[in-house]
Amino acid sequence: MSAHTTTLEELAKRHLVMNFTPAAKYREANLPIFVRGEGCHVEDEAGKRYFDGLAGLFCTQLGYSHGTEIGEAIARQMGELPFQTTWSSAHPPAAKLAAALAELAPGELNRVFFTSSGSESNEAAIKLARQYHISRGEPERRKFIARRVAYHGTSFGAMSLNGMVQVRKMFEPLMSGVRHVSNTKRYRRPDQETEAAFTAFLLDELESLVLQEGPDTVAAVIMEPLQNAGGSLTPPAGYFQGVREICDRHGILLIADEVITGFGRLGAWFGSTHYGFQPDIITFAKGIASAHVPLGGVIADDRIIETVLDGPAGMYNHALTYGGHPVACAAALANLDIMRRLDVLGNVAATSSTFAAELERLRAIPIVGDIRGDGFHRSVELVTDRAAKSWAADRLPSAEFVDQHLAPAAVEAGVLCRLAVDSEGNPLLQLSPPLVADGAAIGELVGLVEQTLTRAVASSGLR
Ligand SMILES: Cc1ncc(COP(=O)(O)O)c(C=O)c1O
Repeated sequence: MSAHTTTLEELAKRHLVMNFTPAAKYREANLPIFVRGEGCHVEDEAGKRYFDGLAGLFCTQLGYSHGTEIGEAIARQMGELPFQTTWSSAHPPAAKLAAALAELAPGELNRVFFTSSGSESNEAAIKLARQYHISRGEPERRKFIARRVAYHGTSFGAMSLNGMVQVRKMFEPLMSGVRHVSNTKRYRRPDQETEAAFTAFLLDELESLVLQEGPDTVAAVIMEPLQNAGGSLTPPAGYFQGVREICDRHGILLIADEVITGFGRLGAWFGSTHYGFQPDIITFAKGIASAHVPLGGVIADDRIIETVLDGPAGMYNHALTYGGHPVACAAALANLDIMRRLDVLGNVAATSSTFAAELERLRAIPIVGDIRGDGFHRSVELVTDRAAKSWAADRLPSAEFVDQHLAPAAVEAGVLCRLAVDSEGNPLLQLSPPLVADGAAIGELVGLVEQTLTRAVASSGLR
């Protein structure tokens, strides 16, 4: 196929293998080609504007108007030193960024290992946790506990942590020794259950799993402060403090996967700070450089790194050629400067309640079942029967509703959001806008979502 005689859409469909993209997008369906962005909006090649209600994929914290400024920092670094490793040497951007992250991270989390993605970050955390226990003389601590439906990545170790069954099942057997506990979804818990009772139920389940497995076989618990998959699942009061206490009592590390919640999405630099708990390891990616370049990593407690350095390998036994790439670190330093200058965290903290209040309007739409979330991460779960909190698939399969009604309505309205069928079979709409969105922009976003849902209800005949 010649590049001169085909459209970009044809080129992409013919040659580009895309991430988690259904076959229809390569064949009959329209494949959007985005060509530019400004503020919270992106534009496709036909000139149609969309509000990016997903911030790329939970990651363009600054939206689309700071690429030139970050690009200048990138260009300066390219001119000075386009590449060097962080293998037995260092360079200014990696050293400065590691120190900046130590400053932002809670407690004694002062040591940073860089990667280029969220999956690589969780992979690095798995190895760090295992090596820490080996170095302490407890090599049999190999198991990990994660939560149902949670997503932690696609590389084999990170994929093994996933509680999201459909992304892992066909690749099994994976890394052994991963167990899952309930996530914090509250929507279908018994009506009379108090928040305290829900917290107690979750903590009892975690502790009984630890005891059943044998505490001295468990290396770490890994959880997102707010779980993305399943739809913006917030922790009930006292939950993370309880998880921390169980981990401490049994010598288990607590890893916070902050690939989404890191760098302001909940209004603090880290979601663990926002919810008031102290992890031993934080994994991050996405927002650190507003996804303008690929960068991720692990921030670990001093005692973990010191133990590993004093252990049998005499080093952290892991490496990535691009870990701490100088250009990526320079971009991240510029991103953090701009986030501070614009008080992006202050904006999220101040606008979060407006976002929640605006979303409440959607309850007037008959299929809106649950609205939940925190900060700039919100989800709307759709049902056909509010009293039963269920979707009647015999009336209209939820996948058909999402593909044939909801997704086209979102395109028509000009809004990008995550539209999926969740693990319980219900349509789910997720919003995670750029963190620079002010109250007016949030109002615009919710208005577009309202149009989307109203059109989808009308076209599907659901009332
Ligand atoms: C919580 C979480 N962890 C890990 C990952 C994997 O990150 P990446 O796609 O950069 O490998 C993701 C990706 O969305 C994520 O949401």
